[in-house]
Amino acid sequence: MHATLTAHPGFTVGPVRRRIFGSFVEHFGRCVYGGIHQPDHPTADEDGFRADVLALVRELGVTTVRYPGGNFVSGYRWEDGVGPVDQRPVRLDGSWRSIETNQVGLGEFSRWAARAGVETMLAVNLGTRGVPEALDLLEYANHPGGTRLSDLRVAHGAPEPYGIRMWCLGNEMDGPWQTGHKTATEYGRLAAETARAMRMLDPGLELVACGSSHSQMPTFGGWESTVLAETYDLVDHVSAHAYYEHRPGDLGGFLASAVDLDRMIEAVVATADAVGARLRSRKRIMVSVDEWNVWYQSRLPDCLPADWTRAPRISEDAYTVADAVVVGNLLISLLRHSDRVAAACQAQLVNTIAPIRAEPDGPAWRQTIFHPFAQAARYARGTVLRTELTAPTYDTEPHGSVPVLDAVVTHDPGAGALTVLAVCREQSRPVRLDLDLAAFPGYELLEHSVLADSETGAANTRDDPDRVRPRSATGSARREGSALSVLLPPVSWNVLRLTGPATGDRVGGDQVHDREEVIR
Ligand code: AHR
Repeated sequence: MHATLTAHPGFTVGPVRRRIFGSFVEHFGRCVYGGIHQPDHPTADEDGFRADVLALVRELGVTTVRYPGGNFVSGYRWEDGVGPVDQRPVRLDGSWRSIETNQVGLGEFSRWAARAGVETMLAVNLGTRGVPEALDLLEYANHPGGTRLSDLRVAHGAPEPYGIRMWCLGNEMDGPWQTGHKTATEYGRLAAETARAMRMLDPGLELVACGSSHSQMPTFGGWESTVLAETYDLVDHVSAHAYYEHRPGDLGGFLASAVDLDRMIEAVVATADAVGARLRSRKRIMVSVDEWNVWYQSRLPDCLPADWTRAPRISEDAYTVADAVVVGNLLISLLRHSDRVAAACQAQLVNTIAPIRAEPDGPAWRQTIFHPFAQAARYARGTVLRTELTAPTYDTEPHGSVPVLDAVVTHDPGAGALTVLAVCREQSRPVRLDLDLAAFPGYELLEHSVLADSETGAANTRDDPDRVRPRSATGSARREGSALSVLLPPVSWNVLRLTGPATGDRVGGDQVHDREEVIR
């Protein structure tokens, strides 16, 4: 069984946008409390943040982190989380049936983000609140000083404004589970008025209108159309959320989950462009896939707590090899759409639906899904190239006929780096990938890294945290003229790193949001 992949440095999709390697910290389960924050942990710093978790966040290569929710934000009062910690109110959080102590709020999170070297993407509550509270939060967070709320931030120990650029106008307002759920028209009007007012304070903000919670929502498409008709000139991005899970007996369908994400992104782009066409607008709305991951949501009802507790264990999914392959494929899909996907957040970062696990004692460890994210964030550089992939197909119930392989290619001519990220969805045998290098004279394979296992259900555990990790594949590749033939094992995530003549020029890449240049 074999497939061919062709790319050319002159045919590009768009820059590798660093914000595609975003993540999400919500006050949900043990993501904040017992995740990033645990004052009694041996590695905790003066603010109670775990250094072992911070080290893994940096290793993961996360660029942007969405905060504080999620469903949580739709009932949240941001004022509860600022000021003296011992005076903060304890509240009920109905979204996750949890007790919220407010020991971590915007100030603490901002200090954590600075230590992690990440940009904050902040969500405002448009469920139970509206324009005045969003303006208050913006003034508190971003105004330098000399006003009531900016001076309050200074009094709370933050003399410098947080400078948050990217703001989400609510969360999943299309979902009946959302506190303050709205119709598309109701939400579109509120989002437009909130955006207009926020821009009066700071025209330079990047604003995200809520799109659909997933592609199977009955309102999918119509929601985006109505919301964008109200907000088109006022926002920069529309969100898209996508979660997938392995249903028993359907590994083939699960492995092809990225087909659904491809279609969802393309449908949102088409809908946004149709609104733009109706408005005779040259502006292009970008997509912020600000929640995506593998999530065993079908198990959620079993783990929602019966009683009100603080930081309960919810959705601490243990990820398998197959889950890691799907996560890698979802990253391929996001990169492939880098002409229109401006940002993406894997949901979430620690413990809850997360690549990083942290128990109250002992060091934090990497789940299987940590690895494809870390490798993509590290090695996808420069420009995403258009690719031509020819591969055998197989039939799936959820997505129809799909190729046995999927791949994306990035090229950084300045550094002489060509990277192929590829997944093999074939379950029983390896697939040979013939990579056509005719347009890349002088490029040679530096490394073929593979994440696979004889058991697709293998997972990392606290006692065996490195059972599943990428390994260098030796002898997997053969050069024949301008073609490089590589064997991809069944159900695998692969990174092919090629090196060639470096021009030294800075071409492509996302110069505005390049992690090294801006954040560090
Ligand atoms: O990430 C978990 C939850 O999934 C978020 O709170 C919500 O926005 C989505 O439904």
